[in-house]
Formats: sequence, structure tokens, C-alpha cells
Amino acid sequence: MDNLGDWRKSTWCGSVGESDIGSELTLMGWVQRRRDHGGLIFIDLRDRQGLVQLVFNPEPASEGSVNDGKGVHALAHTLRSEFVLAVKGIVSKRPEETENPSLKTGMIEVKVSELKILSSANALPFQIDDDTDAGEDVRLKHRFLDLRRPVLQQSLMLRHKVSMAARNYLSDNGFLDIETPMLTKSTPEGARDFLVPSRMNAGHFYALPQSPQLFKQILMISGFDRYFQITRCFRDEDLRADRQPEFTQIDAEMSFVGTEDVMGCMEGLIGHVFKEALGVELDASFARLTYDEAVGRFGLDAPDVRFGMELKDITELVKGCGLKVFSSVAASGGIVKVITAEGAASFSRKELDGLTELAKTYGAKGLAWVKLNADGWQSPIAKFFSDEEKKAIEEAAGAQVGDLMLFGADKATVANTALGRVRLAIGKRLGLIPEAIDSSTKEGFSFVWVTDFPMFDYDEHEKRYNAVHHPFTSPRDEDMELLKTDPAKVYSKAYDLVLNGQEIGGGSIRIHDPKVQAKVFELLNIGKDEASSKFGFLLDALSYGTPPHGGIAFGLDRILSIMIGSDSIRDVIAFPKTQKAYCMMSEAPSEIDSKQLEDLFLRVTKPVQT
Ligand code: AMO
Ligand code: AMP
Repeated sequence: MDNLGDWRKSTWCGSVGESDIGSELTLMGWVQRRRDHGGLIFIDLRDRQGLVQLVFNPEPASEGSVNDGKGVHALAHTLRSEFVLAVKGIVSKRPEETENPSLKTGMIEVKVSELKILSSANALPFQIDDDTDAGEDVRLKHRFLDLRRPVLQQSLMLRHKVSMAARNYLSDNGFLDIETPMLTKSTPEGARDFLVPSRMNAGHFYALPQSPQLFKQILMISGFDRYFQITRCFRDEDLRADRQPEFTQIDAEMSFVGTEDVMGCMEGLIGHVFKEALGVELDASFARLTYDEAVGRFGLDAPDVRFGMELKDITELVKGCGLKVFSSVAASGGIVKVITAEGAASFSRKELDGLTELAKTYGAKGLAWVKLNADGWQSPIAKFFSDEEKKAIEEAAGAQVGDLMLFGADKATVANTALGRVRLAIGKRLGLIPEAIDSSTKEGFSFVWVTDFPMFDYDEHEKRYNAVHHPFTSPRDEDMELLKTDPAKVYSKAYDLVLNGQEIGGGSIRIHDPKVQAKVFELLNIGKDEASSKFGFLLDALSYGTPPHGGIAFGLDRILSIMIGSDSIRDVIAFPKTQKAYCMMSEAPSEIDSKQLEDLFLRVTKPVQT
């Protein structure tokens, strides 16, 4: 293997262009592939900026490698995929008909005169290629190779651009970047904590932060006025494609503000980030829906508003109908809703069964359907409705011949969620949701603020209220009295930002009055002792002069995955974990030895299952 010596690269492989024709350059990178064409050998040399074509000519003129006197051309024969090279050569225009317009450097090639092999490479477990067919497990195990693939290089470069743009915007708007602890106490986001045992305090544990929530509020109380941090958060919860056990928030907090100030400032942030990172000009302000509107019309609190097929309430219409499942639900305080899938009367039985199964995973008892054919209703429930009732339902549903109507009858949360999910599945199936995002325009990005969340939801199982956002979220001013009389009706000053049907951020104006905070804790069944042991330092701080304040946190990983049109945030995280919160590459988590356990005063009672 050669050493660098005094060689330094003149530019990136992917950046060589026609303006370099005639210059001698030094380039370094990885061998993407080698092609032997009779006498000529071509190497595609790759770095993070792209590929450049190297040409090794067998003629004596190009002899003279620094490698033990061997000819450059002969040496080029020994090159294999992923060897690391340094070359010197002259940039030339490619001969006519050999140009490759689909490649950034496709008009030129580099005629190599000197070659150093800086490193060889073993045979690869998979080819370094965007279109790899290697499974995700193999790729995650060899993430160091996977990360060489251009898609991943580009996604991490985009990630850098996004976080730089966010930093710049926030800094320019008076936000200070202040770090908060990683070894801390449980925070109020409500997931399970990752715990870290303390060696110096036997039997005591730190929690890794689920967010910097308590600390950023304290920074406001301490007078910093505006804070931000791009920081890791840790939550031990069931993982999905859009959830990792550690993920990154763009976290911010502001003093002396109301909801409009925070939302306005954050529209500026998102606008700046999309402009800088993607060159996309977003509208200056985003659409808005209240929580009730979002759930009422789309079934979900993170609505995908890129297509219609809205839920229509037909509870009143079916109160007296002959179908028991509808009339009894309507009579007992539940709701009956319908969505209409245009032109979907052709759906097969199998597809309808699939949708029914989907609805059932969200708690629905069934999913009644009606195909509206030219000769009327085709449906297992047709016989329960009079012609007038049918007409009224079709009208309310906005259904035409050729359409499919799907019904949910249940308590509101179940009917809305199930139909909301079915709506998304059909939207995808009918191609109503654009598959790939054309990131050169704003068309692919549909933002909506969801505001006025309920303050509490009632846990039937535990017979108690939970905070919908977190316990430091302020009730709306006009609902303060209801805190005492009818807490279920209290709405909060919380807001989420939804992009293409995914929640990308959430925040609120906080409670800054210790009396209101005490009342909210009481309603949440958090006793004085529990409040003081969990959040005592914040409660204490609140009583020493607190500015009204509020903030938000954005899920950086989610924003990025939507920007690149990927379903999984693993595609925008350098070293992600699997669905089982496992790092295939480093093999974490792992067992620790008995001495380490002893130092921490711990005993493992359940052996690891292998
Ligand atoms: P919240 O819990 O809504 O708010 O989180 C803010 C945003 O973080 C993202 N997010 C996640 N991303 C990936 N993996 C996860 N497991 C995960 N969990 C959440 C989401 C979400 O919108 N302290 C409050 C913010 C505040 O009130 O200021 C908080 O953490 O995009
Ligand atoms: P059943 O009378 O149980 O055979 O149901 C008739 C149709 O109504 C079937 O298509 C069921 O999937 C559907 N169904 C049953 N319960 C509900 C419900 N709560 N909401 C919507 N559809 C339902």
C-alpha cells in the first residue's frame, strides 16, 4: 500500500468539469468499477460528490507509476471495487459519442499518469450501488459500506444543510444555542425512559431525556428569552418506520409570546430551511385546522390534506334505520360516518376484506360497505335501508354511480381513527397521494397546523385524565374556568405542524402560573409528592418570576425523510437502530460483565434470550 506522501487532492472526483480540461489534477476516491476495453482500462472513481472516469492507456507515455516501478497500466489491472486510490492525470474531453450526459462529469475523463493504491478492499457483501438488492439487515450490519451509497451520502449531506439552515435562522432571530443535560431526570413526554445507573449513588438512576422540555422552560425563567438546540432525545417506545429510540429534535423556546408568535416564527424557520436545503419556496404561512376540524374531516389529528375523501357524519340520518349496528350506536352517543372512494365500486371482495381488517386493527367492529352501481346499492347492508334513506345517505356522502361508500359506527375516537386510516389506505391504492415528491417545487409539501387540542383525554381503563400534549401546556384563556367545572371540555394552547400527513413538530404555550400548574397536576392525578419528586425543580423555579413562554420541537429525522420521499427515518440517520432497537453494526445493546454490574450495584434476574 502506498502512503499519501506530499500528494493532496485538487478537487472532488464528482466536481471535475469541462473548465478543468487541460489541467493536471490529483484526485482521490474509491473504485466504483473497472472496465477493461482491450488495451484501455476505465475506472470510475467515486467520492461523496460523485463519479469521475479515469482512463489508463497502455502506451508507454503513461508509464511511470510511483509504485515499485510497475507501469500504471499494469497496476490498474489489479484494482478492485472499493480500493482507495490517488491519481494524477490530465483532464480531457471525452471522445465524441462516449459522452454520458446523465453523469455530472460525463463530458470529461482523466488520463492517468501516476497512480497510488492507498488501500485495498476485501470482497464486498453487497455492491455499493443505489439500486442494491441487499436486504436491510446486511446493509445495517455493514453500515460503513451502506453509507457509501450515493443516496445515503446525499441524504446525510441534506441533513447537514437542513440543520445548518435551522441554526442560522434561529441564531439570526435571537435564539441562543444552549446545551441541556443528557444524564437527567424523567421528562414529561410520557414514553418509557431509558435509564442509566449511577455508580456514585447506589440504586439511583438517571433518565436520558425524552426532550429538553423542563430545562428549556427553566432557561426562560432564567432570562435567556430565546433558546434553541438541535439535540438527541430518547424514548423507549414501540418503534415504527417513523420512530427511533433516539432521534433528533430542533427544539426551541421563546419568552413573552403567544401561540401566533411561535407559529409565525416557526413558519419562517421551516420556510428558510426548505429554501436553503431544497431551493423550494413555501407559502409564507401554512393552512390551519383546529383539532376538532382535523379529526372530524380526516379522522386523524395528523391529517393528510393532499386529497379529499373526507369523512361525513350521518349519525342523524341513520338514527331510525333498520340496521342495528348503526341505529344503536347512534342512539347511544356514538357516531356513524362514511367516506366515499371515487370509482372504487370495482374493488374486489378481497380488497374490501383487507380494508375491514385494517379498520379492525384500530378497534372498529366492522367496516360496512356499499358499491353504488347503476342499478342501486350492492351491499350486505342494502336490505336494511329504505329508498329514501339510501338517497339521503348517498347525498350526504357525495356518492355517484361507480363509487364505493365505507361506513364506521362506533364511539367517536374509534370510528374516526378507523375511517381515517382506511381513507389513507384507499388514497394510496387509488394513487391520490403522490408517490414520489418532486422537490423542485412546493407542490409535494403540504403543511397544516393543527391547533386547539383538547387539554386532557380520559383513559377509560385507568379511569383518569392524561395530558394530550404534556402537563406544562397551558389551557386556553377562555377555558380556565372549565378547569374547575368540566375538565373534559378544556382546550389547550398546543399546536402541531403536520407535513404530508405526518406530525413533524409539536409545541405549546406553557403554564407560567404555579396555581394553574397545581390545578392541572391535580386533574392529572399527580399528587403533591409525585409532582415535587418528578418536576420539583421546575415548580420551584416557576415561583421566582416566570415570563409567559412557549415553544416547539420539530422531528428533524421526519422532516428529512419526507424531503427525500422515504417512508423510513432510518434513511436519514447515519447509524439507525432496527425495529427491535438494536444496532446491527455495533451490536448494541450487549451484555456487560459481572464486575461492571457489581460496580453499579445491579443484578440481572432474567437471562438474555438468544
Ligand atoms: P413531541 O413529543 O411532540 O414534543 O416531539 C416533537 C417531535 O419529535 C418527533 N418525534 C420523533 N421522531 C422520531 N422518533 C421518535 N420516537 C419521535 N418522537 C417524537 C415528532 C414530534 O412532532 N417537548 C415537546 C415539545 C414542546 O412542547 O416544545 C416534545 O418533545 O416529529
Ligand atoms: P354484520 O351484521 O355483523 O354481518 O355486519 C354487516 C356489515 O356491517 C359488515 O360489512 C360489517 O363489517 C359491518 N359492521 C359491523 N359492525 C360495524 C360497525 N360498528 N361499524 C361499521 N360497520 C360495521
